[in-house]
This record gives sequence, structure tokens and C-alpha cells, in this order.
Amino acid sequence: MTVLTGRTALVTGASRGIGRAIAERLAADGALVAVHYGSNETAARATVAAIEQAGGQAFAVRADLAETAELAALFAGLRDGLAGRPLDILVNNAAVIDYTGTIEGATPEAFDRLFAVNVRAPLFIVQRALQLMPDGSRIVNVSSGVTWFATPDVVYGMSKGALNVLTRSLAHTQGKRGITVNTVSPGITETDMNTWLAESPEAARGVANMVALGRHGQPADIADAVAFFASDDGRWVTGQTLEVNGGLWLGPPTP
Ligand SMILES: NC(=O)c1ccc[n+]([C@@H]2O[C@H](COP(=O)([O-])OP(=O)(O)OC[C@H]3O[C@@H](n4cnc5c(N)ncnc54)[C@H](OP(=O)(O)O)[C@@H]3O)[C@@H](O)[C@H]2O)c1
Repeated sequence: MTVLTGRTALVTGASRGIGRAIAERLAADGALVAVHYGSNETAARATVAAIEQAGGQAFAVRADLAETAELAALFAGLRDGLAGRPLDILVNNAAVIDYTGTIEGATPEAFDRLFAVNVRAPLFIVQRALQLMPDGSRIVNVSSGVTWFATPDVVYGMSKGALNVLTRSLAHTQGKRGITVNTVSPGITETDMNTWLAESPEAARGVANMVALGRHGQPADIADAVAFFASDDGRWVTGQTLEVNGGLWLGPPTP
């Protein structure tokens, strides 16, 4: 497929998991992809190598999103890699989860760190990225189903709720430039964030019983939805949240 031929994309947290699948999919569709990572250079290189082996184009850019000062390095690397080309697609995917961030276990320090990566970084990445993005470009924020179902780790859920608000506000303000801004909200997906899925067949079966399509998600299931928003086919959709979860908790399990 070549629907993004000539376009460029930045995918944060593209070294592993869902971000890697998004980077691979956008590159397969023809985009030159900036593969952002935080610390796992080996994984980022592996993503770039996989894209190149498949005939695509990519380069890696590093920045710890917990540190605002590192955004300068992120954009310096991005500008180098783009070599004068604009940025057509931004996918804010990188995030951290903290299962100790419950009402009992939350600390101000851990709260600040999680919000720095999951909320502050996307906001200020968008602020800088908009200067590189032409009219008609695309922003996709990767949120989570925990914005509509309750989980004990309240801090993570709060951060994703904030990201959903960012999407709506940006869609509203950037519409006049023809820039679409949408949220893709994954369900339970097999990545390093969810190691318990691979480690416990019982837990995986429990998840499968809550999902209409009878299994947990794979990163490519999410990437394909992001690709829709990034493509010309998504031109008339903005400010929306798409739940990409196989039908999670649609109703009580059927016999
Ligand atoms: N997996 C799920 O079930 C699920 C469900 C709902 C929503 N989501 C959302 O989907 C997105 C991707 O999740 P995932 O499961 O693919 O996560 P993952 O496998 O844990 O990968 C996280 C990615 O984010 C990067 N990252 C983490 N902390 C960073 C930091 N401080 N600075 C820069 N980069 C950082 C990592 O880079 P390094 O490799 O360098 O560490 C990695 O590329 C997240 O927004 C997550 O909240 C996931």
C-alpha cells in the first residue's frame, strides 16, 4: 500500500509495542517515519531495521519525555531526519503506566513523573510540531479504555483522561488549518506494558471472556486504526475517540 507516499510521520514510543506497530504500518503505507524512543536504543534500531527490510524509510530519535529539556533534542533529531521536509503526521503514543498509582499508593513524585510523560510531553510536542506541520496534516493521540472503565491505578487513568481533553481542544482550534486530531483508545493489548498477558494463560483467558471477539489485542490491531486517521480516508473525522478493543465489556458474557 502506498497511501502515505511522500508523507512524513513522528511516532513517539515507537521502539516497542503499539508504537512500533504504528511506525511499521505508516512506513508500509509509504511514509518516512521518525521512530522516537526513550532509552531502549536497541529496540529503536530494531524497529528502524524492520521498516527498512520491508522496503520503508525510517530514522530513530531519542528523548526522555519525562524531561522537558529533552524535547529540544527530539526536534533537532526530527529536523535532521526530515531534512527540510514538513511533518505530516504526529502520533503521541509513548506513555508509562504505574500500577502503584492507586488512591492508597499514589505519591506526588510518581504522579508528576507519570503526568510528565503521558500529558505534559504530548502537549509540548504538539506545540513544537505544529510549526513543522502543514495545513491538512494529522495528529493522533493514543489514549486508553481506562478513560471509560474504572481501574485501581487512578493516576494512569487520569493522565489518559487529560489526553482525551487535549484531542478535543486541538481538534477545535486546529480545524481552521484542516488539521485533524483524533484519539485511538486501545483495549487490552499484548505489549511490554502488559507482560502478565503472556505470562498467565489464565489471565489471558479472563480477558478473552470480556471481549466480544474473544481475544486480547495485538499491536497491529491498534496500528491499523491509527493508519486510518493518518490517511486521506480520515479527512472528515476530527475530535473523535475510536475504541479499538475487539468489543470490550459490551455486555455480560454469553453462554
Ligand atoms: N498495552 C495496552 O494494553 C494498552 C492499553 C491501552 C492503552 N495503551 C497505550 O498505548 C500506548 C503504547 O503502549 P504500549 O503497551 O505499546 O507500551 P510499551 O510496550 O510499554 O512501550 C512504551 C513505549 O514508550 C516509550 N517510553 C516510555 N517512557 C518513556 C519516556 N520517559 N520517554 C520517552 N519514551 C518513553 C518506550 O521507549 P523505550 O523503548 O525507549 O523505553 C516505548 O517505546 C501508550 O500510550 C499506552 O498508554 C496500551
